[in-house]
Amino acid sequence: TSVDKAGHKHFMAKEIAEQPAVIGAAVAHYLPAGAQSVQLPGDTVDFADVERLVMVACGTAYYACLTAKYWFEQLAGLPVEVDIASEFRYREPPVTPRTTAIFVSQSGETADTLAALRYCRDKADRILSVVNVPESSIARESDLALPILAGTEIGVASTKAFTCQLSVLLMLAIKAAADRGRLGEVEVADTISALRGLPAAINLALDQGKAIRRAARRLSEARDVLFLGRGLMYPLALEGALKLKEISYIHAEAYASGELKHGPIALIDKHMPVVVFAPRDALFDKTVSNMQEVMARKGKIVLVSDDAGIAGAGDGVWSAIRMPQVHPVLSPILYAIPAQLLAYHTAVAKGTDVDQPRNLAKSVTVE
Ligand code: G6P
Repeated sequence: TSVDKAGHKHFMAKEIAEQPAVIGAAVAHYLPAGAQSVQLPGDTVDFADVERLVMVACGTAYYACLTAKYWFEQLAGLPVEVDIASEFRYREPPVTPRTTAIFVSQSGETADTLAALRYCRDKADRILSVVNVPESSIARESDLALPILAGTEIGVASTKAFTCQLSVLLMLAIKAAADRGRLGEVEVADTISALRGLPAAINLALDQGKAIRRAARRLSEARDVLFLGRGLMYPLALEGALKLKEISYIHAEAYASGELKHGPIALIDKHMPVVVFAPRDALFDKTVSNMQEVMARKGKIVLVSDDAGIAGAGDGVWSAIRMPQVHPVLSPILYAIPAQLLAYHTAVAKGTDVDQPRNLAKSVTVE
């Protein structure tokens, strides 16, 4: 059946391991073999005349939205507002004409997200949802529901639903970019072929289990952990900190690397590990300075990066976790794997209940 652990110790481990397959299925659904462009069901969505996107969700799905903001803005030139459903629904935010609203939800039943959708019903031009459960309320009440095809997710801490949400949102951003004439044919083709290669890259990330377990054993001794990332890695740092809190009960916070100086640096000492997600990209040198600031205060760095990044970071890094090199737009999907595995192995080292963390529910259908 689809609801056994298939030889894994926890559903969460099984769901992490399933990611190459489910991401592959999501990519193949929207980019069938031979397709040169992203195919949406019904194919009635055209982003050419959209002026603004509003994206609303809770929890991990909210971090998927924050990531997608970078994609929609950079690839498609579309202004995006992202909000937490419980804030959005009561703020009475104006929804200006030519706004498309996107609701992201694994369960499709989260009360606040559903209420936010209903708030937008007569205000937005179009309501899209990105859901895992196609017959859910959020799917039924939207103009178009885009399935993420992650399969049943049992672990309370979302893993494969997150990376499938990201994959679908990235494909949506590529479609928006193409509709708006913002990406040339060659760039679209490059990004599409990179997406098709994503499952193989995810497999390479999963192979880093040993290095991740070693870093996690160290993290399991900590009382507080700081997560840092820039650009597309900032929302991922937020998700990494959330995962760690949820299942290991270690206090974790995430900051945009550039904010280090504006507060969190005051907390750095030898007891506070700092997890840094940083592929070697255009902003990498700035992140190296942040790491030096941490190390100068005896902070311990867990660096998740590619070969070039790990080489560029120099000595002094406490733990290095090596990712394959991928097209830069894919990095949040790939780097989600070590974020999940770090939390998972830290929780296992602490002996907490990984699949049923205390006080948390898989689906929050009441306020
Ligand atoms: C709960 C779950 C989270 C999830 C959030 C939103 O807090 O524990 O894993 O991200 O709800 O749920 P949804 O089903 O709307 O994605």
